[in-house]
Amino acid sequence: MLQRFLVASAMMLILVASQVFWVGQVRDWLASLIRNSAWRRRVSIAGWACYLLLLSYNILPSLFEAFINRNSTLGSARSAIPPHTTLGTALFRTHFWGWIRGGPEPTHLTLPAALLQAPFQWWVFCSLLGFLLAILFGLTDRIARAARRLYQGVLQAGRAVPLHNPISLARRRFLERTALAVSTTPFVAGAYGMFYERVNLEISHRAIKIPRLPRAFEGFRIAQLSDIHIGPFMTAEEIRRYVGIANGLKPDLVTLTGDFVTWDGSTQFAVVDVLAGIKAPFGVYGCLGNHEMWAKVEDSITRLFALRGIRVLRSEQALIRSGGEVINLLGVDYQSSSPMGPRNQRLVRQYLEGIDRLMVPGTANILLSHNPNTFDRAAEYGIDLSLAGHTHGGQVTLEFISPDLSPSRLITPYVRGWFGKPGGQLYVNRGIGTIGVPIRFDAPPEITVYELARS
Ligand SMILES: [Fe+2]
Repeated sequence: MLQRFLVASAMMLILVASQVFWVGQVRDWLASLIRNSAWRRRVSIAGWACYLLLLSYNILPSLFEAFINRNSTLGSARSAIPPHTTLGTALFRTHFWGWIRGGPEPTHLTLPAALLQAPFQWWVFCSLLGFLLAILFGLTDRIARAARRLYQGVLQAGRAVPLHNPISLARRRFLERTALAVSTTPFVAGAYGMFYERVNLEISHRAIKIPRLPRAFEGFRIAQLSDIHIGPFMTAEEIRRYVGIANGLKPDLVTLTGDFVTWDGSTQFAVVDVLAGIKAPFGVYGCLGNHEMWAKVEDSITRLFALRGIRVLRSEQALIRSGGEVINLLGVDYQSSSPMGPRNQRLVRQYLEGIDRLMVPGTANILLSHNPNTFDRAAEYGIDLSLAGHTHGGQVTLEFISPDLSPSRLITPYVRGWFGKPGGQLYVNRGIGTIGVPIRFDAPPEITVYELARS
């Protein structure tokens, strides 16, 4: 608990420091751009008004909700709200600024989401990254200067006349400009990631060799969609486009590996409604992700999918039959072995406990598991292929520089793509939607098509 508090406090401190840093930078830019002080004051006031509007729109609801939930003496009101809605959210929606941000999370792009939410998320995320880069650059510069001073001190020793340093002023200006250019890079990259890469779908084709694959399934094609995260930045209309693309790939079977909703459980109806458009001759199967768990819709969304002919496997199996032969499809709910989310739900002592009872010997066993961390255990069980998502491929990464430069490395070694080890293989799909910020960088959305083959 204390550890979490310290981490949260440190993050908040860095965030505040980054905002102070950028306020100073913007003030300097304004001073050099606008010479007239009256106009500079007007632009500053307008800037502050915009900033405070964005801040209050995006931060106040969370603070209000946290406050209400900690001081919840209004217990009787809780029974009146839907189970997926917290008391704070409900009160906020009905009493505080509800006229602008009220109601359930939209499943289409609204004006407030486009004008107030997205710019704020872009600004906070990019200004934080820019600030960290500026610190890194400053530290590197200081270390280099200290090293040079030390070196010059050694050269100077024993000389009567001091050594001349002709490049210091020019170098200083160059470094300042470079530091500024480097720290503003995240803003450009963030805009690119928001408007282009986030919607630049990539279709990956992957041949999967499974020695135990029955002959009738040679060339069998499975499509995978993951991490839809319906919301204002992954609209029902956008998902419909992906459904059309998936259908156009003409897979034999389609798998959906969790995180259909984002935070608001009431969006489950819209996402199921759109995904019901996916058609495949051998059926559509899914498993649930951590966001279904957090939004408390695991049971309800499973029922909704079932009504539309999509089967969600919750520690269950489905036998897929063709030409008198069979492969075994398995599915589990989200599992985690480390604390995550409110009340640390779904902690497991050991991944995939009891899955061996669902396995079918002598044929291909294919597991749908939102969390790729189940892979080690799946390989121990001899599950031939695991299909996972959850990481969004890192969502905002610099994997093109180094695979280690991905935030998802903090939670799993299996961030994206194919992995193999004795006993099994895994593919981690980068998903379609986003979480936190509507930005993808070096991790475009993905639909994967697997073509099964015997070795
Ligand atoms: Fe997830």
